[in-house]
Amino acid sequence: MPVIHYKGKIIHCPKGANLRQVLNERGLHPHNGTSKMLNCYGLGTCGTCAVKIEGHVSEMTPAEKLRLSFPPHKPENGLRLACQVKVLGDVKVIKGEGFWGQSGEW
Ligand code: FES
Repeated sequence: MPVIHYKGKIIHCPKGANLRQVLNERGLHPHNGTSKMLNCYGLGTCGTCAVKIEGHVSEMTPAEKLRLSFPPHKPENGLRLACQVKVLGDVKVIKGEGFWGQSGEW
């Protein structure tokens, strides 16, 4: 069973679980501030669930690639959209600053 390290917490989830769903269920949202309410609820279009991930997860979906290709995101930052990610192994997840979580030391 994969382990997610996020905000100082350790979360166990089934292999293949949706990252955003797992975090939301634990009250550890992958959203900042008002984007917890103002988001696309997992469609991969708003970009507010962007996080940095270290570890084994699924490949990028077409929606994820598209949304991360334009501002405020930059493809070179290597972020992922938690709503599009399936957890396949142990991962470390980092949330950046800003409405979209777009700012960080990537
Ligand atoms: S919740 Fe909107 S892109 Fe993930």
